[in-house]
Amino acid sequence: MKVKGFFHDIKGTDRILKIRHENIERSNAEKIKADPIRRLAKELHPDKMLLEIVKIEELKWDAKTFRFHVSKSSKVKFIPPFQGGQYISFKFKIGKSYTTRPYSISSAPFEAGDLNEDKPFVEVTIKKKEKGFISEYIWENWKVGSEIEATMPLGEFYYEPLRDYDTIVAIAGGSGITPFHSMAREIVYGKLNAKMKLFYGSRLEKDILFKEEFENLQEKSDGKLQVINVLSDEDSTFEGESGFITSDIIKKYSDIEKSSFFICGPQVMYKFLSKELLDLNLKRKQVRREVFGETHDVYSFVDFKEEAKGKTFNIKVHIGEKTIDLKGYSGESVLTALEKEGIRHDSHCRSGQCGFCRSRLLRGDVYVVSENDGRREADKIEGYFHPCSSYPLSDIEIKIPQY
Ligand code: FES
Repeated sequence: MKVKGFFHDIKGTDRILKIRHENIERSNAEKIKADPIRRLAKELHPDKMLLEIVKIEELKWDAKTFRFHVSKSSKVKFIPPFQGGQYISFKFKIGKSYTTRPYSISSAPFEAGDLNEDKPFVEVTIKKKEKGFISEYIWENWKVGSEIEATMPLGEFYYEPLRDYDTIVAIAGGSGITPFHSMAREIVYGKLNAKMKLFYGSRLEKDILFKEEFENLQEKSDGKLQVINVLSDEDSTFEGESGFITSDIIKKYSDIEKSSFFICGPQVMYKFLSKELLDLNLKRKQVRREVFGETHDVYSFVDFKEEAKGKTFNIKVHIGEKTIDLKGYSGESVLTALEKEGIRHDSHCRSGQCGFCRSRLLRGDVYVVSENDGRREADKIEGYFHPCSSYPLSDIEIKIPQY
């Protein structure tokens, strides 16, 4: 009986498929060229775009703001929609290495939209790092008129009214101020319905980036934006707070229980703040931190294996049919080792979050910075890892996608 039922099912399926084919034939004599929904999704969220630098503004302490229009030769014809706080990842080919770097967008989303009277633009603000491989390259090569390949805007570091409280407590250090420059402009110009208390840590008053811009924004904000500069090395004449951004300073200006916390700054600031935030008894969902970029001082994590420090290991890499052997230093991510060897591997956030570099770890051990472990549980069980946030602890064998 069961067998008969099975064949009945197959016969039934055959009949349904036939009817379906006939219906498709009848309904559309012309071939559909492309799925319009997919096409629209691709237009709104393209994998990459070509941007042209149209303006470069020099700021203090060796920082520059680069303004981009979409290049005429770009297949994408407009800047995809984004939220204040998101980043763009730029692609570089330097010598034999292919690499990427994510930078927060410092301009506001409305400035990239159709309603902008000027041509819509997007800006990033970059600080030149001493002996910074990429920033030195940018300073030498990015000129007005240069065309740069970039990803669409990405990242989870943005205000979401359904998830977040009305007030943003923004905590920034150094160039970590840039995403808040974007968010604050949205708030003050009435495009984002929220308030912001901005705590900005700098060494000296002269180091405060976007000082005048934030003063002007605060004045225009009708109480929606309050900027609290916290200076670690300034003398007592400065109007603001001195020292570091502590829980006491945050409590003094904020309603802790009714605020969402957004943190962006150097890794040393996260370490300091993690203790301060414990004092505030925040719920996990109240805190969001931007960590784009690799961990540079991985040896400073207490659970990093002492015996692996300073060592170099063999990395066997399988890409399609090819196998390549290379060396990887335990203080550098596996992604960096691949890039140094000229192996092209997709990457955007470089901090374990976006999943674009997802690969297989076939053999050996890696150290994964736990705060930057953005893998799904199933991926961990199946042996997937993110080379951008993983550091070799032994000889390893990996498999990466082919591009
Ligand atoms: S580049 Fe985003 S997870 Fe590795």
